[in-house]
Amino acid sequence: MSKRIQISRHGGTEVLEWVDHTAPQPGPHEVRVRNRAIGLNFIDTYYRSGLYAPPRLPSGLGLEGAGEVEAVGNAVERFKVGDRVAYAGGPLGAYAELHVLPADKLVGLPDSISFEQAAAAMLKGLTVQYLLRQIGRFQGGETILFHAAAGGVGSIACQWAKALGVKLIGTVGSPEKAERARALGAWATIDYSRENVASRVLELTDGRKCPVVYDSVGKDTWETSLDCVAPRGLLVSFGNASGPVTGIDLGVLAQKGSLFVTRPTLAGYADTPERLQAMADELFAMLADGRVRVEIGQRFPLAEAARAQEALTSRRTTGSTILLP
Ligand SMILES: NC(=O)c1ccc[n+]([C@@H]2O[C@H](COP(=O)([O-])OP(=O)(O)OC[C@H]3O[C@@H](n4cnc5c(N)ncnc54)[C@H](OP(=O)(O)O)[C@@H]3O)[C@@H](O)[C@H]2O)c1
Repeated sequence: MSKRIQISRHGGTEVLEWVDHTAPQPGPHEVRVRNRAIGLNFIDTYYRSGLYAPPRLPSGLGLEGAGEVEAVGNAVERFKVGDRVAYAGGPLGAYAELHVLPADKLVGLPDSISFEQAAAAMLKGLTVQYLLRQIGRFQGGETILFHAAAGGVGSIACQWAKALGVKLIGTVGSPEKAERARALGAWATIDYSRENVASRVLELTDGRKCPVVYDSVGKDTWETSLDCVAPRGLLVSFGNASGPVTGIDLGVLAQKGSLFVTRPTLAGYADTPERLQAMADELFAMLADGRVRVEIGQRFPLAEAARAQEALTSRRTTGSTILLP
């Protein structure tokens, strides 16, 4: 018997239950992982609230973790008991001491990267990999806008953009977060709680605006983000921290300058074991030589996942947050 966080209904953090749970024997293509550290992500709050639907209830929660392989199915060849591994994708249930998942969802963890670093960087770092390296395809010298730059994904994006020679303008909700984002490599910051983002972007880009705008805040920033995209540029809408974007009038893309919009997910980019491994290799290389450092701003016991989610949704966290079993 082990312990996990489970939800039986949707709602606020009060629906998170700390329960006894028997992790199943792995199926032929599955692996059972003893988690040593678990990543907290905004998407976990969407599955809790019901914005995203888990396949069934009761359901485990969480998509990111790192630990040791404890058991393998008889068709698994890539991993053996004792291997250090990490993951950043379904099935839900990473908020647990033991988690069973398909071997295809795992990557081997280099010895140079600790379990805590991996749990803090896998989902957010792979996200930044596809946002900046697969969607962005930058040459260096571009100026981009990236919302919530002091958060988990944002902290990695500031550093990775700098390493690519891309000038990242980061939005943040306080002067302390602005300082933090600049220290991590943001070229400039805008405090969207008090400044006009579109005017500041015009000033900072000499009227040119940005070829790519990355928006994970959603409802509150959608309109502003469109105003910051250069003609024929791209708005990457990749999250809903303030609520989902709904009811889009396509004509607005014509009016604002023949714009492109994409709504990507990590699962859509890391959709084969080979692509997942290639993305992870690139992330691990960035971590290994220090071009990206993992900023663990908060640690909570796994049993206190509710307190961790409250801190995240009330904008009291910076960098990554991990849960410790
Ligand atoms: N599509 C994908 O593949 C993918 C993958 C990973 C993450 N994401 C998305 O990326 C975003 C960041 O994820 P994360 O886990 O790293 O979280 P995070 O950035 O650490 O936390 C979210 C941040 O958003 C800002 N924010 C703005 N309005 C907010 C509001 N009304 N409520 C709460 N926060 C608000 C806050 O920063 P300020 O105080 O500075 O405003 C907050 O710290 C989330 O939207 C997540 O869903 C998408």
